[in-house]
Parts: sequence; C-alpha cells; structure tokens
Amino acid sequence: MAKQETPKPMPNSIKFLFGGLSGMAATMFVQPLDLVKNRMQMSKGAGGKKEYKTSFHLISAIIRNEGLFAMYNGLSAGLLRQATYTTTRLGVYNALFTHFSGSEGQAPNFAAKAGLGMVAGMCGAFVGTPAEVALVRMTSDGRLPPEQRRNYSNAFSALMRIAREEGVVTLWRGAVPTMGRAMVVNAAQLASYSQAKEILMSTGYFKEDILLHFCSSMFSGLVTTIASMPVDIAKTRIQNMATINGKPEFTGALDVLAKVVKNEGVFALWKGFTPYYARLGPHTVLTFIFLEQMNSAYNTYANKQ
Ligand SMILES: *[C@@H]1O[C@H](CO)[C@@H](O)[C@H](O)[C@H]1NC(C)=O
Repeated sequence: MAKQETPKPMPNSIKFLFGGLSGMAATMFVQPLDLVKNRMQMSKGAGGKKEYKTSFHLISAIIRNEGLFAMYNGLSAGLLRQATYTTTRLGVYNALFTHFSGSEGQAPNFAAKAGLGMVAGMCGAFVGTPAEVALVRMTSDGRLPPEQRRNYSNAFSALMRIAREEGVVTLWRGAVPTMGRAMVVNAAQLASYSQAKEILMSTGYFKEDILLHFCSSMFSGLVTTIASMPVDIAKTRIQNMATINGKPEFTGALDVLAKVVKNEGVFALWKGFTPYYARLGPHTVLTFIFLEQMNSAYNTYANKQ
C-alpha cells in the first residue's frame, strides 16, 4: 500500500465543471421521463375525469401520435438546463460547504447543510430559468394542435425567439416558483443525501462505495419528490402559459395552486409523481455516481503529479 497523502484541494472551477458535466450525463438517460412529467402536469381533465389514466397511457399516446423520438424532444434544453442550473448549484454548494467546514475539516451540521443547499439552489435556479422555460415549452409542444405549436428547433433558437417575440423578461418567467422549487429540492436533496450517507456509514454495514451512494440517493429522491411537486406544477404551468388577448392565464404561483386544487382536486398537485420520482431517483443517483467517479479520477491524477 502506498502511504496516505493528504489530497490536493480541487479548484472551484473544476467543481463547477464536474457538477454540470455529471448532471448533463445523467440527463441523457432521463430526458423522456422529464417530458412525461411535464405533459402530465399540463394535462387538465376536470371533474374527476383525467386526460390520461396513468403515465403509461400518456407514453403510448406520444409514441403512437408523435413517434418514438418525440420522447427526446427538448433534449437540448434539458442539457442546457443542467449546464446552467447544476453547474451553478453544485459549484456554489461545494464552495460554501468548504467555506463553512471547521478548521479540522469537520462538516457543517444538518441545519447548516440544508441552508447552504437552499442558497445554492436559488442561485442555480435563477441562472437556469431561461433554459427551464425553453424546456417546458419544447416538451409540451407536441400536445398542442399543429397550428398552436411553437416549433422551437433547439434550446438556443427557443431562447432567441422568446426574447424577440415576447421580450427578454419572459426568459425569466416563473423565476419565483423555479427558485422556490430549487430551495425545496436542494434543502431536501443535498441535506438528506449527506445525512443518509452519514447515518448509513454509522451503522457499520456500509463503506464509501457505489452501494452507499445508491441507497443515499434513492432515499433523498423520495423525500425530494413529495416535498417539491406542488411547487413544480406551478412552475410548469406558468412557464408554458399563453397570453390570450393580452391577459396571462395565471397571475402567479399561488393562483395556479388555487386553480388546480379547485378544478382538479388536491391530489392533482402531485400529477406526474411516477415520472418525477422515476426521473429524480436515477438522475440523482447517476449525477452523484458520475460526480464521485470524476472526483476520484481527478484526485488520482492530481496526486500523481
Ligand atoms: C408550427 O408548425 C405548424 C405546422 O406543422 C404550423 O401550423 C404552425 O403555425 C407553426 N407555428 C409557428 C409558431 O410557426
């Protein structure tokens, strides 16, 4: 065995880069689930009658009517969202985490970690909102009749057209619920991930390996899904809303929530639960796995110098 050396600290720019790259790599696998989630959240169906009974009915309708590749619509926006949101979020979180760790390297406590996660998430969400607007619109386009479609060809052209046709401010439409959602997601995700990891390690049955990362991520994904879905549906509907005769469909997130509960029932707030959890669990797992792999590859390389 080689003697244990203290690893060289990783520059923050590399942390930012690795965060974004691991998020993008994970998105390549779960993009169709994001599309299904957004479509379920957009489906209205009032009076106890649902537009789609389950996500599986929706998936077969999409494949039948729009083709298999339609499941990957909006991929460029999904990747851009990761590049902006995740890069900023994980970069800020890692930097804050290091800054608030004790001089002997002891981690901040649970409440502090949750706070750092929330601040990092809000920064990421603000930077990522334009990509989010493009993503919601591109994934929802196929459900509209052809003459009402927006037909954005990719994320960059979506951003250009939104700025030109509706004003630059529209790129930040739904920024408040996007940031609110990010606060909830990151408080739940980052804190419950670290906490689950610490608890599992303390049982003595786990060591720092992929199984530990997997179990911690699955647990943190469930907590995150339940807590964040109501904010997420508000975000999705606001970002996709059309302005009819100069009147926007919703005045804000609370207006969406009130209308959804009134017209579609309380449980409609968790519409798209299955694809959301099916996406978030593996996305979290894959992101952290890619991230830990990149980190250990970097440490091996950096300490050889
Ligand atoms: C999108 O394409 C359809 C035809 O496929 C067309 O009817 C519609 O007007 C187009 N939308 C825009 C905004 O150009």
